[in-house]
Amino acid sequence: MRRLIGRVFQAAFATVASAIVLGSLSASPGAAQKIEGLAPTPPMGWNSWNHYGCNIDEALIRETADALVSSGLRDAGYVNVNLDDCWHGERDENGNIQADPERFPSGMKALGDYLHARGLKFGIYSDAGTQTCAGRPGSQGYEFQDARRYAEWGVDYIKYDWCNTGEGAEQRNPREAYRTMSRAIAASGRPMVLSVCEWGDNEPWLWAGQYGHLWRTTGDIINCWDCTVGHGAWSSSGILPILDQQDKLRSFGGRDGWNDPDMMEVGNLPTLAENRSHFAMWAMLAAPLIIGSDVPGMTPEITAILANKRLIAINQDPLGRGAMKWIATPDWEIWAKPLTDGEWAIAMLNRGDEAQSISIDWAAVELKDDTFGHRAEFAQRSYTLTDAWSGKAAGDTRTALTSKVAPRDTAVFRLRPI
Ligand code: GAL
Repeated sequence: MRRLIGRVFQAAFATVASAIVLGSLSASPGAAQKIEGLAPTPPMGWNSWNHYGCNIDEALIRETADALVSSGLRDAGYVNVNLDDCWHGERDENGNIQADPERFPSGMKALGDYLHARGLKFGIYSDAGTQTCAGRPGSQGYEFQDARRYAEWGVDYIKYDWCNTGEGAEQRNPREAYRTMSRAIAASGRPMVLSVCEWGDNEPWLWAGQYGHLWRTTGDIINCWDCTVGHGAWSSSGILPILDQQDKLRSFGGRDGWNDPDMMEVGNLPTLAENRSHFAMWAMLAAPLIIGSDVPGMTPEITAILANKRLIAINQDPLGRGAMKWIATPDWEIWAKPLTDGEWAIAMLNRGDEAQSISIDWAAVELKDDTFGHRAEFAQRSYTLTDAWSGKAAGDTRTALTSKVAPRDTAVFRLRPI
């Protein structure tokens, strides 16, 4: 009897071990299939939607890829080139999804090869419903077939949307839907990042990390500072309304599972100050940094914002903590982000239309992150300050800091223990 139990155990162990080796855990029906390690820091790249909407084709994607390389943005970390909605054609007679033959005549495999040859990664978009938001074929019922197809094309990243998933009691269960796509990716044999895009409707921060590497926390972003635009059943929001929804979620984001306040509008906002603030705050939030503007036509000022290596380092810090709102007034806020080795980043955001003189008397304040147990002891320890925009030394915490912040602009400092 003991030997029988031993053999049963051995057999069970061998099955589990080989399932792990093969990367297929299909033995347990409810198990998560997520491929870990694909997003140790927030993903960076470009996505077509914010600037081009449905108006995309292979020439644009190639031009954008070339511009990411020649501008230095790829080398700054923006490696994912993500096609959003509207790349699709019809399914063939076997149900295989195909690219729009007019817009992508060379096909998706060729496009993936083009990107990979330039040190870039290939991202694609689909939807958990019957159709995408723009009415292209969705993946519902085709998840495994689509993931296999994407793997053949060399896809590295899937943004998976939530339109046309049914209404009310008939609506698809979001956990089931994203779990199915996660399992389909695992079964395809190609590691692909899964970007969960159900607009924060079902509190994805509580469950989506089992299946995906990032999840949208809000409805769609739009290129305004402080507006909300209604579209009937849904609305899109500018930078401040989206930012205001993030602080309460910071405990949920981290390695391989990032809160995603949506793709950036940097380059699409009217003033440099607004573009700077938007970028600074997304960097502070440990948000995915996905460029949403016209890369070939980008001005040097916008490229300089997006390529700022000190801001990027704050975003990509391996500790993986998002910033917390530390000090808040109606007109301005100070956010603080714990970094590795006891360092911190501090952002002074001027929300309003008047310049602000913002001061921190280090001796009189306490900086404590109760959620993750980080603290800065300004009384016992001093920190040097570096202006993250310019790279210039900005004194240390033995003296109070006063910074003049222009309307809608953001100052950022990095604190290093002395
Ligand atoms: C929305 C999504 C946008 C974009 C769009 C495409 O649902 O939030 O980011 O992907 O669909 O139709």
